[in-house]
Amino acid sequence: MTQIAQPFGVRIRGTGSCVPERRLTNNDLTKLVDTSDEWIIQRTGIHERRVCDPSSEGTFTMARDALKNALDMAEMKGSDLDLIIVGTVTAEMTCPSVAARVGAALDAIPAAAFDLSAACSGFVYSMNIAQALIRSGQFRTVGVVGAECMTSIVDYTDRTVSILFGDAAGAAILTRDPDPRIGCLYSAMGADGRGWDSLYIPRRAQEIPANDIDNPIALGNLRMNGKEVFRFAVTKFREVIEDAMSKTGLTPESVGQVVCHQSNIRIIESAREKLGIPKEKVYINIDRFGNSSAGSVGLCLDQLWRAGKIEKERPFVMVAFGGGLTWASGVWRV
Ligand code: UT7
Repeated sequence: MTQIAQPFGVRIRGTGSCVPERRLTNNDLTKLVDTSDEWIIQRTGIHERRVCDPSSEGTFTMARDALKNALDMAEMKGSDLDLIIVGTVTAEMTCPSVAARVGAALDAIPAAAFDLSAACSGFVYSMNIAQALIRSGQFRTVGVVGAECMTSIVDYTDRTVSILFGDAAGAAILTRDPDPRIGCLYSAMGADGRGWDSLYIPRRAQEIPANDIDNPIALGNLRMNGKEVFRFAVTKFREVIEDAMSKTGLTPESVGQVVCHQSNIRIIESAREKLGIPKEKVYINIDRFGNSSAGSVGLCLDQLWRAGKIEKERPFVMVAFGGGLTWASGVWRV
């Protein structure tokens, strides 16, 4: 999907994020599973992750607060929104959507609202869809959120998933702009459902493939074949960034920030090194927040935005991949 001469531009008017206060350190995890601080840091780059208090926090509250922060930065109110999209695979309910509840909480009535399920690619997918709807003239102001309470679907006896995931939400307010040069210059999305069972959350026993039937993880929790996902990610991640840069003529010198899904430091580093992108252009926060699935790219974007690291002169790239298997990229000029 390529956008060139379009009637409207899209401006990012504000960003926001929300992470729970509670921290789960690697040393905390050693009390739950057979692992060590050294192993986790060396194999993933993670030191600690944030964890919702299930009695008062979750995907909905984080999505609401992240979007509120983004609205505050944009100096806008919920009633200014005409669409809310929440990328998530950890909605508290399948109906209504998290987006509809967020809309009600922020007085964004009668804004359209829906959740988008693309796992870790959820925020980038949602940004791509939102900007296309604005450019087409259908919507004027869209609130995009990636929110994930991963700890609600992690089995804390499984040392592969428990070390990796944390909770977070990130958000952005997109508005129609008269300057068509502003906004998303290029976006791509894809999926290969043949790999669905390398990362999945079964609700019914009959969905579980024969080779995973003996897996003791309870229904409703995440099952991940870490090695398979890792293999897919290392190649796909590099390909997706390469595609986005080549289609827009960007080089490691001319590109701004590359805002990556925080999957595993080794996956990000391998892509960065192969593409020759300088270290300072690839933001890393996985050490402090772990892998927060659809929450991660929005959280990174908000932290970069507030630190003044998203430059007007240089387009930035967002990139993510995850369950589905899915992947997505977007190149933006602000
Ligand atoms: O967000 C998108 C979706 N997810 C991802 O991107 C995750 C992709 N995958 C990964 O990040 C990595 O595969 C993991 C971090 C999940 C695992 O790291 P790995 O380097 O692929 O480890 P491995 O599964 O190849 O296991 C290596 C060794 C094994 O021991 P042996 O067989 O060599 O004796 C494991 O049993 O490490 C062992 N191991 C652990 N040891 C300590 C596996 N998990 C742990 C652990 N602590 N938590």
